[in-house]
Formats: sequence, C-alpha cells, structure tokens
Amino acid sequence: MFPKIIHFFCLLLSPLILHSTLSSSISSRVYIVYLGHNHLNDDATLTSKYHLRLLSKVFASEEDGKRAMLYSYKKSFSGFSAKLNASQAIALSKMEDVISVFESRTMKLHTTRSWDFLGLPIPSYTNNRSTLFPLRLPSYGDHDVVVGIFDSGVWPESKSFDENEGIGRIPCNWKGKCVKGYRFNPASACNRKLIGARYYLNGFEAQYGALNTTADNPEFRSPRDFLGHGTHTASTAVGAVVHNVAFPTSSLLAKGTARGGAPWARLAVYKVCWGKNYEGKCTDADVMAAFDDALHDGVDVISASFGETPPLTPLFESASAIGSFHAMQRGVSVVFSAGNDGPHPSLVQNVSPWSICVAASTMDRTFPTPIFILNHFSIMGESLITTNIINVKLADAINYFNDGICERKNIRKGGKSGKGKVVVCFSTVGQVSIATAQEALKAINASALIFGAPPTTELPDLDLIPTVRIDIDQATQIRNLLAELPRLPMVEIGVARSVIGKSVAPTVAYFSSRGPSSILPDILKPDISAPGVNILAAWPPETAPTVRPSGKFNEEEEGVKWNFQSGTSMSCPHISGVVALIKSVHPNWSPAAIRSAIITTATKVDTSGNTILAGGSMKASDPFDIGAGQVNPIMAINPGLIYDITTNDYITFLCNIGYTDQQINNLILNPSPHFCCRQSTATIANFNYPSITLANLRSTTTIRRIVRNVSLNKNAIYFLRVLPPYGVRVQVWPRVLFFSCFRQQISYYVTITPLRKSRGRYGFGEIQWFNRFHTVTSPLVVRLATYLVHTN
Ligand SMILES: *[C@@H]1O[C@H](CO)[C@@H](O)[C@H](O)[C@H]1NC(C)=O
Ligand SMILES: *[C@@H]1O[C@H](CO)[C@@H](O)[C@H](O)[C@H]1NC(C)=O
Ligand SMILES: *[C@@H]1O[C@H](CO)[C@@H](O)[C@H](O)[C@H]1NC(C)=O
Ligand SMILES: *[C@@H]1O[C@H](CO)[C@@H](O)[C@H](O)[C@H]1NC(C)=O
Ligand SMILES: *[C@@H]1O[C@H](CO)[C@@H](O)[C@H](O)[C@H]1NC(C)=O
Repeated sequence: MFPKIIHFFCLLLSPLILHSTLSSSISSRVYIVYLGHNHLNDDATLTSKYHLRLLSKVFASEEDGKRAMLYSYKKSFSGFSAKLNASQAIALSKMEDVISVFESRTMKLHTTRSWDFLGLPIPSYTNNRSTLFPLRLPSYGDHDVVVGIFDSGVWPESKSFDENEGIGRIPCNWKGKCVKGYRFNPASACNRKLIGARYYLNGFEAQYGALNTTADNPEFRSPRDFLGHGTHTASTAVGAVVHNVAFPTSSLLAKGTARGGAPWARLAVYKVCWGKNYEGKCTDADVMAAFDDALHDGVDVISASFGETPPLTPLFESASAIGSFHAMQRGVSVVFSAGNDGPHPSLVQNVSPWSICVAASTMDRTFPTPIFILNHFSIMGESLITTNIINVKLADAINYFNDGICERKNIRKGGKSGKGKVVVCFSTVGQVSIATAQEALKAINASALIFGAPPTTELPDLDLIPTVRIDIDQATQIRNLLAELPRLPMVEIGVARSVIGKSVAPTVAYFSSRGPSSILPDILKPDISAPGVNILAAWPPETAPTVRPSGKFNEEEEGVKWNFQSGTSMSCPHISGVVALIKSVHPNWSPAAIRSAIITTATKVDTSGNTILAGGSMKASDPFDIGAGQVNPIMAINPGLIYDITTNDYITFLCNIGYTDQQINNLILNPSPHFCCRQSTATIANFNYPSITLANLRSTTTIRRIVRNVSLNKNAIYFLRVLPPYGVRVQVWPRVLFFSCFRQQISYYVTITPLRKSRGRYGFGEIQWFNRFHTVTSPLVVRLATYLVHTN
C-alpha cells in the first residue's frame, strides 16, 4: 500500500496530470482544462478571451478553437472545456498556469445499483421524519438559506415546491435565475420557493450526441425532470410540508405528511444529469459549469447525489472535487453521496476533504410473511405480498431450470409449465438477482417465487410475480425436504404485515459504499450516515415509478406524485437538509465547522442501544461503514465544540499531497503572501479533520487537534474519554479542556504508540470530550504498518 501512495504523490507533483490511456487515443474527446481561481475576476470577458487564446494555441486558428470550446468557466473559478485530441491535451497541460487537464468522465446517479431497489412500494408506512427534523427550528425568514440541487432537474408543479406560507421575498443578493426551456416557463415554474433553475447540456451532447427526446428515450431540453431522481432528492432536502401524501399504486395506501429536512429553505435546481436509456448521466464538463454558476448565484449548500465509479481520480481531476474546493473557499457546503457499491471495502466515492460524504441506512420497518408447507413445517420470510396464496404446490428450481439456475436462458428445453407452483430459487446458484429470478419464473408461468438469499435490506418488488425472500439456511431446509419427498407438497403463503418500530434500526444499507478512501486513506470517508432505504418523496407524475429489468420504465403503472426510492442518493439530501438547518442557525459557520458539528454529534447505537449493524455482513458497523455514525440533527445544531479548518490548513494539506507553491497560489483565493510548502512541517495527520485516521502508523506519533468553544453554556469544561483502537496505546494531553472568554480555542495532542505488529488490519476507537451538556466524539482509526520502526 505504502509504495502505491508514494507513486500517487509523485504523479501529483508534476503539473502534467493526465490519464495514461490518453496517449493511445487519436480522436477528439471532451477535456477540461483547469486553471485554479479566477485571477481576472473583475472581467469575465477578459477571462473568456484568455481561455480562447490559450485554446487557440493548440489549433490552427482561433476559429477552430472557438468551435472546439464547450464552456468557459469564469464566474467562480477559471477553466474551460473543449473537444481535443490527446496531443492537444498534452500540449495544454504543459502551459503555464494550467493546474490540470483531464478527460470529462460520466458520473452516475446514486439511486440504486440495480432495478431490485427501485420503486419498492412500502405499504402503510408514512415517512415520518418529524422526530429527526424539528419543524419549528428556525422560523421562516430567520436566515435565508438557498440549497442548490445538482441532479436530473425538477418537476416544478409538485406540491413540494409550492411557496411556504409566509415565505419572504427572494433575497436581494440572489443572482441566480430560472431559464426557459421545453415545457418550462419560468413565470409559472418558479416562485419564492423554487428560485433558480438552470440546465447544462454541452458536455452531455459532446459525448453522447444530440439529446434524444423521442418516445423511446423521453427527456426534456429544460430544467424539467424526466428521470424523477432530481425531484425526489430536492423534495427530500427542502420540500415544503405536504399533507395527505400517499403512494396510490400500492394496494395498501401509505398516507402521511411529506416534507424535506429544511422545508423553509429555498431551492435552486441545476440540471446536470440527463436520461439516456433510462439512466442518469452527468458529465464533468456540465458539472463544472453548474458549480461555476451556482457559486456565483449565491447558493449556501450544494447537494449532489452522483459520483464516478472507482478507481477514483486525483482530487484536481474531477469536477466534483474542484467545484467543491471552490465552494469551500466561498463558505458553501457541498454534500455528496458515498455511492452504492457496498458492502465491499474501499469503493467509497466523493472523498475530497472539503466536502461531506454520506452513507445510507435503513429505518425500523419489516414485512414478515409466513410460509406454511402443509404437513411439514412453516417458516417466516419477508415480502410485500398483499393477498394469500393458496392451493399451490412447492417445487425446486431444479425441475425447471438447467442446474437450478433461475434465469430465462436456463429454462429446460421442452420443460414443464410452472403453473400452480411456487418455486424455490437461490441467489447463490448462478448468482442471480431477485429481478432475474422473477423474470425467469414469470416465463414458466409459476405462481410465486421463494428466494433464498443472504440477509440484506433488499426487498422484492411486488409487480412481476409474488416473491418472498428467505434466508439461505431456510431455503436449504426446504430444498432438502423436497429432495426427500416423492411428491410435491402443498404450500400456502400468508400476506405480509408491515411492522414499524419493532425492529432494530438503523442498519447500514448493504449497498452503501464503504471506506477506506482509495486515494486519501488518511481522511475518513464516508463522514456520516442518514436514511436512504425506501424514502418517500416527490415524483414526476409522467414518469412511471419503477424501471423494468429491460431498462425501461414500467408502462403499465399509473403515474404517481410520490414514490419510494433507495440509495445513497436519498441519504445525501437528508444531510443537505441538516446542513441548511445548521446554516440557518449559525450563518457564519464555515463548511468545515458545519461538517464538524454533524460528525462529532452522530450516534453510533441503534434503537436497541447496541452498535449499529452493517447490512451485508450483519456485524457491528465500523467507521468505514457509517463514518461517525447516524446523523443527529438536533445535537448537530448545538455541538459544544467544533474542529474548524483554516485556509492555512488547506494550504498545508495541498503541500502534503504534492502541490507546488506556484500551483497553490493559483488554487487558494487569498493565501498569506509568505507561505512556502518547504517550510511547512505539518503532516496530513494534523489536518484539523473532526475524525482522526492514521492509515500507516510506523512508530510513535503525536498529532494535534484544535477545538473551538461554540457552546451557549457558561460552563465550558470538557473531560476526556478515550477508546483506543486495537494494537495501540493512546495518550491525550491535556486531559481536561477549560474554555473561558479569553480562551475560546484549545489545542490538544494525541500520542499513538504501536504495541504490536499487524498486517493491514484497521483498528477503530474514539476520542470523546464531554460535559453535562455536550458529547463531542471523534472516530479514531489506526492501521499499523507491517514493519514498525522502533523508537524509545
Ligand atoms: C490533433 O489536432 C491537431 C489540430 O487539429 C492536429 O494538428 C494534430 O495532428 C492532431 N493530432 C493527432 C494525434 O491526431
Ligand atoms: C410522527 O412522529 C411524531 C413523533 O413520534 C408523532 O407525534 C406524529 O404524530 C407522527 N406523525 C405522523 C403523521 O405519523
Ligand atoms: C433515440 O433512442 C432510441 C432508443 O435508444 C433509438 O432507437 C432512436 O433511434 C433514438 N433517436 C434518435 C433521434 O437518436
Ligand atoms: C406460459 O403461458 C404463456 C401464455 O399462456 C404460454 O404461451 C407459454 O407457453 C407458457 N409457458 C410455459 C413454460 O408453460
Ligand atoms: C463559549 O462560546 C460561546 C459563544 O461562542 C459563549 O457564549 C460562551 O460564553 C463561551 N463559553 C465560555 C466559557 O467562554
């Protein structure tokens, strides 16, 4: 691991930051040329001319350069995107002032990794977040907060985006606007709630051709949302209060009140993700343009539920990392989803140290469903079945499919009909998903599916064929019974009951991407977890609520105004709502301070009082599953202490990861004139992050953290509690923190001593400062190097 990191640092040292695949390509592709902050800030036209001049240097004429240019980014930082061939990109990367040149990649929306998770109708459950998000705090107009949603657009007619009662005028410093487009008339679409709506297509069209808006691939050339994802996330973050919300396609109506985490906040929509084959595609070139506008428009929070599939690229070669870096410098918080690539380790996305990365967790709801194998035994599974299934026989998949693999292509030639049969399939035989097995059973006309799979939070969809999920051991028991019996037994399946508040929650969703960060293992990611399974929120009524395995929306389903969705895409806007809440109470807090408040007040226990479980393994979660824990919005408003991060801290961080003084000068808005990387002795370990990670501890190491009093209480004495990670001794000095009106900020030191050898094993502990009013907890993550350096 260690040599690899070194290699990565060396790459960063050179201004020539390009992908190795680049040299082999001949044709033109979309590249982003990034130049840092905008030196020529005062004059946007000057900046554009400068960009064009730079670009024209690699073309025969300025005309050719103009034609190749897609965007000139000039409002909030400096850079441009253009269609280039590899040699042009290399030539540009060698020019002075160029910080990086990288190919525009396509990011995915983080709804769900597969169709299995989409559109699960959850009967008789109201998405009651009132316990999480207090409506009274703050009152309208206290401090206007604008939340920018980077996503697939918005369905402006949804009640979630109606003006709140008593909402004030649009803040006069707001510079954003609603742009016109197909079926999007700013006069009727926008109001005092939805105050901005823009869309970005140049990058998408340069990479995928003209936007296809045919019946085969419906999309709107405007801020209007077709995919539904953007409407859903926006209403989760800032949706107004809407009573009597239901999910009408389900037979058991889910009635209740829907609303976002910050219902009083304003919404600005930046459409950067476009539907192609019913999948959201968001290009770096378009995302850069959205950041450029949004930061200039005056948003306070940005919520982005998309990411690039690992391997991750270095920080300044990604629109999300660059955009959020400039956001941070302007005091704008950026919240990203962690990705849906769990439960395997190291696949967490959006890991930059200046943004918030959100994992997803479940809520306390189960759907127990009884299966009676007549004259034998009965077991309990989980399903969304709403009518009893009787007078059917139970059969093994082996009777219908080659090798018992429940796939359409494995149906036995001239095989029997499955009519009147409930068939048992295993997820582990041929590695089939529920959707695949459902399609296969539908094809043989079976009555229902019993699906044996490892315990997960995944629940089968209602539509294709009734399905009960059971555990592998239960399925094995059934299979062994069937093998013994001369004739197929009769079976009955009862209806699912929806049980709320009985089961233990939260559990980390098994799809939620796990740490450690594959490019910056010394910064803990994800940061925090929030609900992301079966979230009910607004939906475009013209878009069917579920997608078929064929990749198309299910046309048989009628339109709905509210829909259930799962993914870190859904947990991300919960945190964006909490950030908006904190921002409205503490308008002057930096993004780092707000993140610190969220991280240090998170809860690590579930409703049973035990450590939150990690879905997938069903073992106690650790910070790589859940970050600091499940968000606790009320505590986050008043955290007592915060770990803030200054401009100098960021400079030191950039020095540490290999940037030169010259590059840093171009990246940081107002660096102190005398900074110099070489003189800086600080290490990444001292970067004042609210969690502490040492990914490669070789010898006794002392690190520093600085905490600031933000408590409202006069009494500001904090005591220490330390939980040391496996294999190390942890000493903290001082052991008590006394704050006074003269001493609002205190440094403390943590000395970590390795006690044994280890081979790549991470240990998890924590450092906690507490008093009667506050508990301020930092995860402490340590991995010992394989070879220790002994010091005395
Ligand atoms: C790249 O484009 C430039 C300008 O159009 C051209 O002169 C050059 O030959 C191209 N290089 C390659 C490798 O195609
Ligand atoms: C939501 O939960 C709160 C607190 O548990 C309760 O008072 C309220 O009645 C619930 N609202 C709905 C719509 O169920
Ligand atoms: C639009 O997409 C559909 C489905 O992918 C395709 O069949 C059709 O040819 C496309 N139309 C245009 C104008 O590109
Ligand atoms: C399933 O039913 C359809 C329609 O009734 C029929 O065409 C098909 O042959 C059946 N398949 C099997 C495997 O019995
Ligand atoms: C801590 O800070 C808050 C405001 O930030 C202040 O009101 C309070 O008095 C401070 N406490 C002490 C002991 O100084």
